[in-house]
Amino acid sequence: MIRGRIIATGSYVPENVVTNHDLEKVVDTSDDWITERTGIKQRRIVNAQQATSDLAYEAASLALKRAHYKPKDIDLIIVATITPDMAFPSTACILQDRLGATNAAAFDVNAACSGFIYGLHIANGLIKAGAHSRVLLVGAEVLSKVTDWQDRTTCILFGDGAGAALIEATKEKRGVYSTYISSDGSLSDLICLPGGGSRNPCSKETILKRLNYIKMKGNETFKVAVRTLEELVIKTLADNNLDPSQLSLLIPHQANIRIIQATAKRLGMPMEKVFMNIDKYGNTSAASVPIALDEAVQSGRIQDGDYVLLEAFGGGLTWASALLRW
Ligand code: COA
Repeated sequence: MIRGRIIATGSYVPENVVTNHDLEKVVDTSDDWITERTGIKQRRIVNAQQATSDLAYEAASLALKRAHYKPKDIDLIIVATITPDMAFPSTACILQDRLGATNAAAFDVNAACSGFIYGLHIANGLIKAGAHSRVLLVGAEVLSKVTDWQDRTTCILFGDGAGAALIEATKEKRGVYSTYISSDGSLSDLICLPGGGSRNPCSKETILKRLNYIKMKGNETFKVAVRTLEELVIKTLADNNLDPSQLSLLIPHQANIRIIQATAKRLGMPMEKVFMNIDKYGNTSAASVPIALDEAVQSGRIQDGDYVLLEAFGGGLTWASALLRW
């Protein structure tokens, strides 16, 4: 049986650190409130010149280097993002050109914070179908440029970054064991960016109404996220006939420490087996899971043979999980 296997990872975050204390000077908030309600202490923010493809390029180059691959070895590039460089061409095409990955097809996936796992679902499916054999999957976001820095309920949450994974066809008994994706468009208004598309094209009016920034009903989103993710992780383990005690590491989307703790509790997993870096980067949407995965690999938290569960929840609404055997 052929399946996809992640053979290398890479990640990149911008140098500029914005702490909670920095935000105290911008909006009516406090380090205590942000830390207690979200677990976030700081986030990384791009400079004015940097765009999503610049972060994606750094993360992808690192993954390629670690795999000893040349860009021409890749036959597909998928970029998961809700903050593309521009509406089109896709950020994946811009990345393809920058890397010189001339043998790759390239497209973007928009599933907000679940984007990387949606991309993994697609990549693994195409590998299993025999359509592609070496896929570069990147989750990359510059959320700071669509964040309303006057809105204390959202601006404290988000950060910029990118994570990449190289996925190769394998016949080994390891790799991507299962992926699951789901959506509920009826709750799309819980978290969205209303301006700049064909519904509310960019105009003086949309800018005055601040429609070109992320809007979120945080508390309602929180409740749906907790309920959905608890069900999702239990289902994923059951689908793979695994007991939570067999899991070596849970890598959750880094949106809120309380959501992560609730999911771990539902699984009965000690927090030592849950990877967290939300304190350093905040919520980086589609980049969150691959940055965490890369840091987990680089720090030795994942060893050969380990079962690793990835999960995410985000705008759409969308949610997704993947069970990996490393
Ligand atoms: N600093 C200080 N006070 C703040 C604040 C801030 N940055 N943001 C909101 N508040 C206030 C609110 O105005 C409210 O005040 P009130 O009670 O006087 O009306 C109070 O804090 C509680 O607000 P609430 O929205 O109920 O807080 P919360 O506990 O739900 O936490 C979030 C807010 C955004 C941190 C939380 O809801 C969350 O993480 N939501 C989900 C995010 C997510 O998963 N998104 C989807 C994936 S991307």
